[in-house]
Amino acid sequence: LENVDLVIVGAGLFGLTVAQQAVEHAGARVLILESRDHIGGNAYSYIDKETGAEIHKYGAHLFHTSSPVVWEYVNRFTKFTNYVHRVYTTHRGEVFPLPINLGTINQFFHAHYTPQEAEALIREQAGELASSDPQNLNDKGISLIGRPLYEAFIKNYTGKQWQTDPAELPAGIINRLPVRFNYDNRYFKDTWEGLPEDGYTTWFERMIDDPRIDVRLNTDFFDTTQPLNRDAIVGKVPVVYTGPVDRYFDYSLGELKWRTVDFEEVRYDEADHLGCPVMNFADADVPYTRAIEFKNFNPERRAQQNANKTVVWREYSRTAERGDEPYYPVNTQTDKDLYARYADSAAQQPSVVFGGRLGTYKYYDMHQVIATALNAYEHDIASLLGANEERQ
Ligand code: FDA
Repeated sequence: LENVDLVIVGAGLFGLTVAQQAVEHAGARVLILESRDHIGGNAYSYIDKETGAEIHKYGAHLFHTSSPVVWEYVNRFTKFTNYVHRVYTTHRGEVFPLPINLGTINQFFHAHYTPQEAEALIREQAGELASSDPQNLNDKGISLIGRPLYEAFIKNYTGKQWQTDPAELPAGIINRLPVRFNYDNRYFKDTWEGLPEDGYTTWFERMIDDPRIDVRLNTDFFDTTQPLNRDAIVGKVPVVYTGPVDRYFDYSLGELKWRTVDFEEVRYDEADHLGCPVMNFADADVPYTRAIEFKNFNPERRAQQNANKTVVWREYSRTAERGDEPYYPVNTQTDKDLYARYADSAAQQPSVVFGGRLGTYKYYDMHQVIATALNAYEHDIASLLGANEERQ
């Protein structure tokens, strides 16, 4: 530890961004500890040998942002393809475009409504529960977009995501259900989107390509059988911790709840199985929520992909138990209160900065986690490294 100015727990986008900044601005020598056998956190991907597809190991990752600062930052390490994310959904044997737009509405009602006509129709259908105060997700959904569209496209999909009948789910899970009264089915509204030209992992390797950054894989910060553990480090060197905040405090106040996703891999002797990268399944009789065909994220790589084989991952969503990958914070009021108490404890650790989605119990997209890491470096971490500034 004598040659280390900063220890970062977790080689996800938060940890990698902080490492890159600490070297660039403070000339710091950084040690990254990562319990998995790879960097990149949940955005990690690898090339599937059989098909040539780039598989996003922890679920589909699409980069998008409207922040010029983040866009400029990420473009220092990778170029992006011109991929534009579009999602389709299967309902009662028919495929519809998402998010719900004029194309979805006209196909669903076998109509040719103009934007104004469609808007008036949805307003009228949503009026069914207009004067009520919806207490469950079903009523909330109906009050937002009307019963026909809610029951076709939202109800069973959400029920599968939560493994709970939406009539039993709190109304607060959804605040709005976007409906577009034109034919725009671009999934993201951001200024920039795309996929890293040479893959996610190459992007991440370039961020930390500096002799002052040392990465130790397969190293768990809490494993006292290895020398680089919490007890040996905290108090001696500043730490940026991006693991689960409740785990840091040995779950002493209780456990924060997460949802996880199980993936089922299916291989086909076909060039293309879905015809698109992401197909949702809106009905209850298909047990998975959606299917991802990774080859279709990178059509520009057709020459490197196997023309006769493809791989699809089906996603099943459920509540996470300890030991599962925590993916989406459940965020009930009880969780929010519990997190607030952990955040108080975290604030009392003078030399440890908690960051990232696990460290702050928040769902962040990649661009958001990069923005929070740049901000945390500037406001909290640079001062911990202050003593090293003159090394520059
Ligand atoms: P992340 O979880 O990536 O990294 C934390 C790292 O810390 C992990 O590598 C973990 O192993 C390590 N760690 C934890 N405890 C440790 C310990 N005790 N010792 C050592 N290491 C430890 N975003 C987006 O922009 N577009 C998208 O399409 C998607 N899609 C998407 C799908 C799914 C299913 C999920 C769950 C998430 C997304 N995201 C996304 C969000 C994206 O994954 C997220 O923004 C980043 O992964 C967050 O990076 P972090 O560094 O915060 O956490």
